[in-house]
Amino acid sequence: MKLKDKITLLTGASSGIGRATAILFAKEGAIQILADIDQKGGEETVNLIKNEVPSAKAEFINLDVSKSSAVADAIEQILKKYGRIDLLINNAGVVRVGLPEEFNEEDYDLLINVNLKGTFFCCKYTIPTFKKQKSGVIVNLASVAGHIGQVNHANYCSTKAGVLGMTRALALDLAPFNVRVNSVSPGATDTPMLRSDVAKNARERGVDFEVVKKEFEEEGVMGRWADPMEVAKVILFLASEDSSYMTGADILVDGGWVSR
Ligand SMILES: NC(=O)c1ccc[n+]([C@@H]2O[C@H](COP(=O)([O-])OP(=O)(O)OC[C@H]3O[C@@H](n4cnc5c(N)ncnc54)[C@H](O)[C@@H]3O)[C@@H](O)[C@H]2O)c1
Repeated sequence: MKLKDKITLLTGASSGIGRATAILFAKEGAIQILADIDQKGGEETVNLIKNEVPSAKAEFINLDVSKSSAVADAIEQILKKYGRIDLLINNAGVVRVGLPEEFNEEDYDLLINVNLKGTFFCCKYTIPTFKKQKSGVIVNLASVAGHIGQVNHANYCSTKAGVLGMTRALALDLAPFNVRVNSVSPGATDTPMLRSDVAKNARERGVDFEVVKKEFEEEGVMGRWADPMEVAKVILFLASEDSSYMTGADILVDGGWVSR
């Protein structure tokens, strides 16, 4: 087992890539605290884990990562209960798309608050423990959108480019403490987030969902969407000792999208 007894805080665990990661990490022996604002989805993830790996240790906590004091409290509780944290997986994220001239400030703030501040807050309150332990691993979820432009995605792209920058800079801050910080950049991955993005695009253009889906599929040279588990496997690689000489790096899991 690659993550035996690793105390893991995984955000955005109620859906999509986070849920797949939680299931995979359970199989690898992690002890998981699964954080999300979606209580029902979080409980479903825990049930899926228990069905697949009855001996797995996983609990759900309702946590909005964009709320600084809530993140601080959650991490304090984890430390009280487990005494340490080994892995932080910053997966919680939101997407909002639209023409720049029509983009409203509420959506802009949400993108910044969840994708950037939420990632930062989880790092900020975990880092003192990592430094004391002289060990720890952070994996952030960036995106192809941090590497290339996407039509109508200016503000989402800027948050994900920000995650790439944060990852590289934190890697420098934390290397002296034996803490590694890396990111994964998925391409089109079949999750509720991508499906809602495609549905909105289709509605606005007055075309079928399947038409837009096909366009998104063709962005990657492999001509299909990723299954969330294909991204989860790369998150596992970066979380485990298999990537022991990697820090400040990003791995594209994009079916060749950025190679075009
Ligand atoms: N699906 C894709 O194609 C794709 C591509 C590139 C990057 N990503 C990134 O991967 C990550 C996971 O995306 P996904 O596709 O699985 O999305 P998803 O919508 O299926 O899951 C995201 C989860 O984050 C949670 N969340 C949202 N706001 C939160 C908050 N404030 N606090 C805590 N949890 C919150 C949601 O409730 C949800 O359970 C995101 O960071 C996303 O930006 C996804």
